[in-house]
Amino acid sequence: MQFLENFTPELTISSPGRINFIGEHTDYNMGYVLPTAIGNKITFKFQKNAHESHCNIYSLGYDGFSIDLNTIAVSDTEWQNYVLGVLNEIAKLSDKLKGFDCTIESNLPLGSGLSSSAAMECGLAYGLNELFDLGLSKLTIVALSQRAEHSYVGTQCGIMDQFASVMSKEGNVILLDCQSLEYQYIPIDIHPYKIIMLNTKVAHSLATSEYNTRKQECEEGVEILKKKNPVVGSLRDVDKEMLDASKNEMPPKIYKRCSFIIDENQRVLDMVKAFKQKELETVGSLLYKAHHGISQLYEVSCAESDFLVDFAKTQAAVLGARQTGGGFGGCTLNIVHEEHAEEFIQKASDAYRKAFDIDLEAFEVQPSGGTSKQ
Ligand code: GLA
Repeated sequence: MQFLENFTPELTISSPGRINFIGEHTDYNMGYVLPTAIGNKITFKFQKNAHESHCNIYSLGYDGFSIDLNTIAVSDTEWQNYVLGVLNEIAKLSDKLKGFDCTIESNLPLGSGLSSSAAMECGLAYGLNELFDLGLSKLTIVALSQRAEHSYVGTQCGIMDQFASVMSKEGNVILLDCQSLEYQYIPIDIHPYKIIMLNTKVAHSLATSEYNTRKQECEEGVEILKKKNPVVGSLRDVDKEMLDASKNEMPPKIYKRCSFIIDENQRVLDMVKAFKQKELETVGSLLYKAHHGISQLYEVSCAESDFLVDFAKTQAAVLGARQTGGGFGGCTLNIVHEEHAEEFIQKASDAYRKAFDIDLEAFEVQPSGGTSKQ
C-alpha cells in the first residue's frame, strides 16, 4: 500500500492472546473464568495522517484496505470486521478519531483458541485511544471491543477474552467474576511444570454458529429454571439441586449444557484454591474433568482435541490437559513436567501425525502482561 512508503510510526502497541486455565463458556453465563495473557501477540504500529477521515490498515502477510470513518460498514472480508467493528464502536463514544495509518503483525496463531480476535480488537482500540487521546478507560476498551465482536463479527462472545487481553498481569492468572466484573490476580507457581500448548491446527467451521447455539441453549435452560425459581437471572444463580428439580421439564441436551456450566463454575473456584496451595495434582485433575465436560456435556470438542487430551492421559509427565477456548479445535493446554516436556511434545506430535496426518504445533506459554505501549 502506498502509505507504507512514508510510514514513520509514532506509536507501537502489543496486544496479547490468552489462555484460559478453566471456566470455559461460563463468561456469558455470568460465571467465573481464570484466564491470562500469553507472550504470543499482535503488534500494531500507528501514525496519524493528514486526512480528516481516511484510514489505511495493512496486515503483514495478509492484505491492506482503506476506509473512510464516515462510511464504516460490515465487510465481506472477515478479518476486516475486527477493525471496522472497533472503529464503529469508538465513533459512538468519541468524535476525536481522525485519519490514521496502521500496520498489524502477529505471531499469534489465528483460529487456535488463543483469542487472536480479542487481541486484534483490543490492540486497535488501545492504540487509537493513545494516538488521539480519547480518554477511554481500560474497562471501556474491553467493553467496546466485546461489542465490536457482537455487532461486526457476529459471535455473541462473553467478556473473558477482551478482559484477559487488556487486564492481565505477568506471572498471574485473573479470577474474574463475569457477573460483577470484580477480579483478583492469582499468582501462579507451577514449578517444575510447564504450560505446553498443542495446536491441533484444526478450526472447525462450526465454531461461530455452534457458539451462538450454546448461548441460546443456556438461555433456554434459564427460562425453564425460572418457572420454579423466579429469582434466577442466569446459570450463575443455579445449583445442582435446583437443576435436578427441573430435570424432567428439560430436554436432555439442555440439562447437559446447564450441568456443565454449574460444574465448571465450581471447578474455577477449586482451581484457584489448588493454585494458592500449590496442589498441582488437583490442578491437573480439574483440567481432565473440565475436558470431559467440554467434550461430553457441552459438546464443543472435536476428534482432534479429544485425541490429544486422551494421549496426554497416557503420559506420566503430564498432570492434566484440556482443550482451551471456544472449541471445535484450536489448542490443548497441558501441564507437563519440565524434564519431560520435549519428549512429550515429540511423542504427541508423532501420535497425532499418525492419527490425523497433521503436523501439530507445540509451544510453551507463560502468564504475561496485558495490552501495552512499547
Ligand atoms: C470464546 C469467547 C469467550 C468465551 C470462550 C469460551 O473465546 O470469545 O467469550 O466464551 O470462547 O470460554
